[in-house]
Amino acid sequence: MTQELIWITGASQGIGKALALAYAQEGKTVAISARNASKLQQVVDESIGLTGRIFALPCDVTDKHQVQACLNLLIEEETLPDRVILNAGTHQPMAANEFSASTLKTLMDINVIGTAIPLEMLLPLYLKPPLCLKQSSHLEYQPGQQKKVQIAIVASVAGYRGLPTASAYGASKAALINLAESLKAELYHSRVDIRLINPGFVKTPLTDENNFKMPFLISADKAAQTIIKGLTGKHFEVVFPSRMAIAMSLLKWLPDSIFFPLINRGTKHGR
Ligand SMILES: NC(=O)c1ccc[n+]([C@@H]2O[C@H](COP(=O)([O-])OP(=O)(O)OC[C@H]3O[C@@H](n4cnc5c(N)ncnc54)[C@H](OP(=O)(O)O)[C@@H]3O)[C@@H](O)[C@H]2O)c1
Repeated sequence: MTQELIWITGASQGIGKALALAYAQEGKTVAISARNASKLQQVVDESIGLTGRIFALPCDVTDKHQVQACLNLLIEEETLPDRVILNAGTHQPMAANEFSASTLKTLMDINVIGTAIPLEMLLPLYLKPPLCLKQSSHLEYQPGQQKKVQIAIVASVAGYRGLPTASAYGASKAALINLAESLKAELYHSRVDIRLINPGFVKTPLTDENNFKMPFLISADKAAQTIIKGLTGKHFEVVFPSRMAIAMSLLKWLPDSIFFPLINRGTKHGR
């Protein structure tokens, strides 16, 4: 049996790094991408001695040529990945009195376009009809003819509803949630299994910048274990930790007349 190959973007630190190491511990082969090549190499070094293997494919996910080169190398050296986790992303709070189209663009570029570029390159490769099938039937998954593949998109529970200072970050994550749902609906019977990962607060270099108490904060290792388990299950959305998921789902359904004053008071913004 061939070894499962996984490609994770944004894996030089935080959730992506924890995921890569956890998959390598399970014996998987993991390609990791991020811009900082030396930090990727540190992750590779940390994986020495684990049953699986990690190798670095440095690239900026917002640069089409770099992503294409990265994917070409991956296919040449190994094969098309069985699972892709599009996790690269960043956060920048933006208060209303500092509203900036350029901050919004930066977050849209990294979080949304940095997910869309790998998707644009991967989907045609996975959805290409096998030679034995007619062109029109290629979106239908034919068990036994092609291996199922999984593409997971990392968004955030911050994409559920608008939250103070998150008009850039939250908007980018809401876009990813909708993007993942659209692809899932269209590709439901295809060989590509689209998944959505919505983390709550996870302790990483990204959240280390936050100067407020983060409810239900979990470690990156715990997040990685939850994601791995969730992606082997059947649910489209992997959302965690469960108490944060419940709280954010309740907010999603609150009427506006309750939601806005409650969230304004709770987060002490707009006073
Ligand atoms: N931590 C949380 O509480 C939390 C909650 C909800 C959702 N998330 C989401 O989970 C994902 C990972 O978050 P994290 O907390 O692990 O963040 P992190 O510690 O800041 O790690 C982000 C990773 O993305 C990479 N990256 C950023 N821009 C990139 C680019 N243009 N091209 C390639 N790689 C890029 C970074 O490496 P380089 O800088 O070297 O490129 C790094 O490896 C993000 O999408 C984030 O929005 C996190």
